Amino acid sequence: MSSITIDGHRIDVLFSEAQIAERIGVLAHEIAAIKPHRLLVVPVLKGSFIFAADLIRAMHHAGLSPEVDFMILASYRAAQTSSGQVDVLRDIESIVEDRDVLLVDDILESGRTLAYAKDLLSARDAKSVKSAVLLFKPGHLAASIKADFCGFDCPDKFVVGYGMDMAHQFRELPFVGHIVM
Ligand code: IMP
Ligand code: MG
Repeated sequence: MSSITIDGHRIDVLFSEAQIAERIGVLAHEIAAIKPHRLLVVPVLKGSFIFAADLIRAMHHAGLSPEVDFMILASYRAAQTSSGQVDVLRDIESIVEDRDVLLVDDILESGRTLAYAKDLLSARDAKSVKSAVLLFKPGHLAASIKADFCGFDCPDKFVVGYGMDMAHQFRELPFVGHIVM
């Protein structure tokens, strides 16, 4: 396993740049295959921003032309465990009625964040609300939600990189890694 050291933290690579890129191409084709109606992609920021940027470009190559609007939800703050509470820091501006909506998030863990976003948009009469997540961490689900499109099952470790942070650090890493020390 390859690793790098940043600011004295050793970070082991869990999913490489190439692995992620290949998987995202497959996900985009899976999404195109359901032939979404007036697709609105909603990245749930902040951690999903790099995944979303790559996924929507892959969606273009898969023949889709979605609209994109953003939602900022906070459930983690600076801590490494979920607080259980979800706050809307920024809502989408788009009308979702009669549209297929695809929520995009970095990690599905307890599921509280995505379940919250799904309920919010479903209540606004979206035609459907599906979700695409880069990583699924099994064993922690507290909300009844599953990801419709999922990149990888993730080991039960705190991961960073590819948009994901530890106290806003390490988002720039082009791979998903685990902080060893
Ligand atoms: P959930 O509401 O418990 O499903 O939490 C999902 C959110 O927690 C994700 O969107 C991430 O922002 C954050 N999160 C969960 N696990 C990790 C991790 O290992 N590293 C960084 N962020 C994480
Ligand atoms: Mg997040």
